[in-house]
Amino acid sequence: MLERLENILLDVSKSPEIDDGQLDKATLKILNAAMDGLEITRVGVWLYKNDSTKLHTEMVLDEKSALKKQLSIAEQDYPDYFAALRTERIIIANNARSHLATHELTEYMQPLGIVAMLDAPLRHKGKMVGVICCESRQADRKWTSDEVAFVGILADIYGRAMSAAERHKFEQLLIRQNEQLEEIVEQRTESLQNALDNFKQAQDRLVETEKMAALGKLVAGVAHEVNTPLGIAVTATTHCEHRLKKLQKSFVDGNISRKQLTNFIDETLDAYTLLSSNLERAATLIQNFKKTAVDQSSFELVNCQLTDYLNALVISLKPMVKKKKVSINIDAKADVSIRTYQGALAQIITNLVSNCHDHAFLQPDENHQITIIIEPHEDGAIIRFTDNGRGMDKDTLNSIFEPFYTTARDSGGSGLGLSIVYNLVVRKLKGEIDVKSELSKGSEFILLLPNLDQHKT
Ligand SMILES: Nc1ncnc2c1ncn2[C@@H]1O[C@H](COP(=O)(O)OP(=O)(O)OP(=O)(O)O)[C@@H](O)[C@H]1O
Ligand SMILES: [Mg+2]
Repeated sequence: MLERLENILLDVSKSPEIDDGQLDKATLKILNAAMDGLEITRVGVWLYKNDSTKLHTEMVLDEKSALKKQLSIAEQDYPDYFAALRTERIIIANNARSHLATHELTEYMQPLGIVAMLDAPLRHKGKMVGVICCESRQADRKWTSDEVAFVGILADIYGRAMSAAERHKFEQLLIRQNEQLEEIVEQRTESLQNALDNFKQAQDRLVETEKMAALGKLVAGVAHEVNTPLGIAVTATTHCEHRLKKLQKSFVDGNISRKQLTNFIDETLDAYTLLSSNLERAATLIQNFKKTAVDQSSFELVNCQLTDYLNALVISLKPMVKKKKVSINIDAKADVSIRTYQGALAQIITNLVSNCHDHAFLQPDENHQITIIIEPHEDGAIIRFTDNGRGMDKDTLNSIFEPFYTTARDSGGSGLGLSIVYNLVVRKLKGEIDVKSELSKGSEFILLLPNLDQHKT
């Protein structure tokens, strides 16, 4: 091939426009190369649009005519031309107006002054998609074999540009879809985050409600318990008042006897003994309750003497389980003091006792027992909370610390009690909790509580 043509081909082939996906720029480059190489003044790319029975101008370069309007030709009007395009690699028409393949186009050629045509079909993915038409206005133009090969290669390069444009289109589509996907993911993440925030808030509110419910149970139990000694005190006072009024009447009437006075003094003394012991009992209950109730609502880091503290707490908790005749014993293996959040500890024990009442002991029985064992452990303490109640099966045992797990939904259980206990032990008190249980043998909750230094929490 002529060096000049080879150089033009090399220049087109190396130019970035061919592969960067912008087909218009690539077409322009190819058509200009054809004009240059073949030294012609008109060249165009014609493409099939929807079917292969019509060709439409995609781009035409014409140095002589400024006519820019789109042209199209149909197979039914130019059957020989369409047939030639399908069968021949390249149509080489030196005298286009009489050539077998192109003679039908005379009407098109005449006004434009076209005499010779060199048409190379364009192929993409093995399919014919159109034609590159090189048209010469030069009389007795004879296309050389170099020129024919040159146009053939330009047609192939056009196929390459089409592939690049298609790839570019898909890439853009992919980028857009990716962006849309990212947007969707972002929106979903945001709505999931919102849902999660709402859920956490709802959970916090529930947890708060549950804590208050535990406190409420405590209050109800203590109120009931205080009522008994106060009732006795009121009866004793009324009795004293009644006796006193009787004595006063005898005194006014002047017929008070020695025996009557001695009886009065004896009875009043008895009543006062009853009165003071019951008032004292009520006062102790209130005092213990106040201590634990205040503790349960305010969390402060304090030095806690476990035996004393748990003894006081248990006095407040006994009324909660009294109906089921449960006894609560504390077994301290040693005097253990730890620095901890007493309020959290009170809530934990309250929940465990409340669970014994709700789940471990179904009917009242004198043998029901809760034992709280206190042992020193490294720099802290172990509290073993055991009951000799109903126990749990394996499935229940595996799920008890999960929030909302309950076997007592019908009787108002929310399933938050032990999840709160777990969180308090692990998060607040930085400890560990374990549980062992066997059906009809009872359960044991083991709490490992470290000594908390202020700066660690
Ligand atoms: N001492 C126990 N003996 C037997 N089963 C228990 C005991 N403690 C807890 N369980 C079981 O563990 C489950 C979960 O307890 P949790 O305290 O979390 O919820 P709940 O007591 O059912 O409801 P809530 O505490 O919210 O009123 C209970 O439903 C019960 O089946
Ligand atoms: Mg519970």
